[in-house]
Amino acid sequence: MCGIVGYIGARDATPIILNGLKRLEYRGYDSAGVAVINGDQLEVRKDAGKLSQLIDLVEKSPIAGAPGVGHTRWATHGAPNARNAHPHLGQTKRVVVVQNGIVENFLELKDELTAEGVEFQSETDTETIVHLVEHYLATGIGLVEAARKTFNQIRGANVVVLISADEPDKIVTARIGNAGGVVIGMGEGENFIASDTPAIMDHTRNVIFLESRQMAVVTRDTVTIETLDGAKVKPQAHNISWDPVAAEKGEYRHFMQKEIHEQVRALTDTLAGRVDFANGKIRLPDLKLTEELAKKIEKIYITACGTAAYAGMVGKYLIEKIARVPVEVVIASEFRYSDPILNDKTVVLAISQSGETADTLAAMEEGRRKGAVIWSIVNAIGSQAMRVSDGFISMQTGPEIGVASTKAFTAPLVDQYMLAILLADLRGTLNEKQRKEMVADLRLVPDLVGRTLERESEVEKIAQTLKDIRHCLYLGRGINMPIAYEGALKLKEISYIHAEGYPAGEMKHGPIALIDESMPVLCLAPKDPWHEKMISQIQQAKARGGMVVAVATDGDELIQGMADHILWVPESPWMLSPIVTVIPLQLLAYHIATLRGLDVDQPRNLAKSVTVE
Ligand code: AGP
Repeated sequence: MCGIVGYIGARDATPIILNGLKRLEYRGYDSAGVAVINGDQLEVRKDAGKLSQLIDLVEKSPIAGAPGVGHTRWATHGAPNARNAHPHLGQTKRVVVVQNGIVENFLELKDELTAEGVEFQSETDTETIVHLVEHYLATGIGLVEAARKTFNQIRGANVVVLISADEPDKIVTARIGNAGGVVIGMGEGENFIASDTPAIMDHTRNVIFLESRQMAVVTRDTVTIETLDGAKVKPQAHNISWDPVAAEKGEYRHFMQKEIHEQVRALTDTLAGRVDFANGKIRLPDLKLTEELAKKIEKIYITACGTAAYAGMVGKYLIEKIARVPVEVVIASEFRYSDPILNDKTVVLAISQSGETADTLAAMEEGRRKGAVIWSIVNAIGSQAMRVSDGFISMQTGPEIGVASTKAFTAPLVDQYMLAILLADLRGTLNEKQRKEMVADLRLVPDLVGRTLERESEVEKIAQTLKDIRHCLYLGRGINMPIAYEGALKLKEISYIHAEGYPAGEMKHGPIALIDESMPVLCLAPKDPWHEKMISQIQQAKARGGMVVAVATDGDELIQGMADHILWVPESPWMLSPIVTVIPLQLLAYHIATLRGLDVDQPRNLAKSVTVE
């Protein structure tokens, strides 16, 4: 969960940056660093571990000056050590960069730069950015243009901040793709940059949020915003209340909306420290999965409640397909009453955002009592579910406040995909080529999610049309069938509209009788192996007068000619498609509920964590 803080002004940047980073400490990180311009030199201090280690380092070896930029890192490329910590200096030691995100094409860029003679000092993708900037600076252009050319060459969803000792009057920042936010705080003769509002709240409440594919040049007295293509943008300033809760919401109206948008960052953080892109390997050290255990496992029971259980249903597809281990998903409230057949060759894998859900904990207890291996995928660090597990995967999404779970749904999808690859690797059921391809696909995830989120206004228009419906059927097949359940759950819990998720193939066995002009049917029909089957489902619904809203892959002309409304999603590897197809359904539920004037963050009768049976 990378945090970024930057400062330009007359004051010393270091204490402002370190205090700002402290405000983001709860998000977690594995290393931290700070760089400032001192006279005409760039000075950098960085270390692995907690921010307190960086503070100690700065006390022992002080740095002063401005502008400056600081960063807390969750490792994605390369181990969490001082060398890989941000900021990263270029070869000339005149430019420094910090980044939040993944440079998808970093291997290509690294090869090109290495061929030019660049010597990389770290294993990070981020270092390619600073070398590219220097490559363009060497052609005689200034920092802003060199940065723009670089930003246009990077693929992915990233936030980047650059400073240069040769142009100490400015900080250059960009939001490339729909990455996690960049907030620019405006003071008197000083300005601030941060990844999150709380980091700069002590100094100003007058802020600008960068949109996707925008860059900003920030001086002491000015903020100039342009698109990455060079078109001028008129900055829109917002006044943030001093209330810490409101500040946490940043530019969003509700936590749910913020958390939906946070998925780009949450999923980047989910990959952090786990994926070795260079060698196509997965590491999940907290799971304590040895080769011996991997080969011993005969069956996995996934147990969870609500949204977490639907995530588990996607996991069943992934683990069975990739690792060829039989998986059964059992709703946690039923698990202990079903007398499950468990022994030391079975795994009980619990999925829980809170890690405190009573039914899920009881299912884990049942597994423990019968001698199964207990694993969990949990968001809340240190929660009961995490503590009682033999091994765990932490979701790394940061706190989820909205009662309707969003980022804690997509993160376990990625976690289970990684788990399936690791299991397959240890069991020897995946060849190297397949493994490397599957691992490589992971780096597409943040950008795919970011591009889907950019279509929020189109979803909002469809929400306008649907806001007064009384019922809705959600249909899906294969790996996207659980997304029908999840989409329906999102709609019912926050908009109070009756919605049912159904496996599309089951329609003809009963529910098709419900379809008429007053029953909207939402069909998940991305280009996955079940695409053709979903087309015939759409035709059947249309034949009965139903209004069809389809989730479809960009450019799918067949569906365009059939559905009444389409929620378009970018093309994605089919095993990762549920991460993308669920996004418009989260947004649809959110907008329908807000259009109906409902309290989306605290819907009636629901609690964030259900600690009773
Ligand atoms: C989802 O939007 C829910 N509010 C609910 O279904 C939730 O996922 C369920 O209660 C499980 O919670 P947990 O992940 O904290 O265990």
